[in-house]
Amino acid sequence: MTANISSQGVFSGAGTCASQLTIRHPDDWHLHLRDGEAMACVLPATAKQFRRAIVMPNLKPPVTTVEMAHAYRDRIVAALPAGMQFEPLMTLYLTDATTAEEIYKAAESPFVQGVKLYPAGATTNSQAGVSTLARCTAALAALEKTGLPLLVHGEVTDAHVDVFDREAFFIDEVMVPVRRDFPGLRVVFEHITTRQAAQYVTHESRLGSDGRPNLAATITPQHLLFNRNALFKGGLQPHWYCLPVLKREEHRKALLQAATSGLSQFFLGTDSAPHARHLKEMACGCAGCYSAPVAMELYAQAFELAGALDRLEGFASLHGPAFYGLPLNEGSITLEKREWTVPAELPFADGKTIVPFLGGETLPWKLVD
Ligand code: DOR
Ligand code: ZN
Repeated sequence: MTANISSQGVFSGAGTCASQLTIRHPDDWHLHLRDGEAMACVLPATAKQFRRAIVMPNLKPPVTTVEMAHAYRDRIVAALPAGMQFEPLMTLYLTDATTAEEIYKAAESPFVQGVKLYPAGATTNSQAGVSTLARCTAALAALEKTGLPLLVHGEVTDAHVDVFDREAFFIDEVMVPVRRDFPGLRVVFEHITTRQAAQYVTHESRLGSDGRPNLAATITPQHLLFNRNALFKGGLQPHWYCLPVLKREEHRKALLQAATSGLSQFFLGTDSAPHARHLKEMACGCAGCYSAPVAMELYAQAFELAGALDRLEGFASLHGPAFYGLPLNEGSITLEKREWTVPAELPFADGKTIVPFLGGETLPWKLVD
């Protein structure tokens, strides 16, 4: 299916005054769903927009085994409101102690689609993450052998590295060596935020014997639409704080260029990361933008900005399944050029509330229910 863009029923050309956009049903290739009551609160927002999502394993305790991933999957499926169609794609959390046997088990499981590398201390619930990849050679060799992708939070955590340079350092210090040592490893560079990462993934991705790229990247809506000025506009803005943190304008432009390039190694991953309002609006507030309720709307806005609405379907609905070797979704979604205001807050677990990304703001695109 190719993107069908119409203006009052007449094709108007991508990016110019289109009023409706219908694309094959999309997926979210990077999502935090949490657990328990919090998960029940946020799951419908994702299921409304996406057919499938790669669910991150950074729970407390982290999802480190296939058994835990299966149990987590069952809890997600049980929390899904009746009548909603949504398939959670599960991941394991890589630690220094992950065995090759667990990776082989994961590769055999019909539910596990990847293994997530969090450098220890890089972000929310990453304390149990990898101290050094030198401790993970058996697990990496098993990933290389099975073709199960390694999903990478690409930031070094050394205190001497400037927070805005963490991703660029990661490429040289971790990504290049690990892909040299394990040339058959399939890697997703998650939520890329810099020109360096966009260029690296553009130029270093190769097609495997199965015709699939061996290196891909997900890109969030906030990194396509905002630069780091948003963090400080009119005062400190905790709801724009996520990790990796927003970067300079030149990086946003490079990401938008990569996402709208049509290259199959770039695909949609919201990194929607819900935290209760009071845990964002505090000293030492949590990292993460809760973008699930506005995700496709924001991607449409970004692609329209780039004059590339005709490439949204590839990014949102085609490239991800091709990388993961999964079938394309049936059916479609329609987005309409119609202004609407994002709710300022929504109910969340424990009687608390959550602020959706861009809560209270007016957006130009709306998903048709
Ligand atoms: O901002 C983020 N929030 N980045 C991550 O990598 C983790 C996420 C979370 O789980 O809250
Ligand atoms: Zn994430």
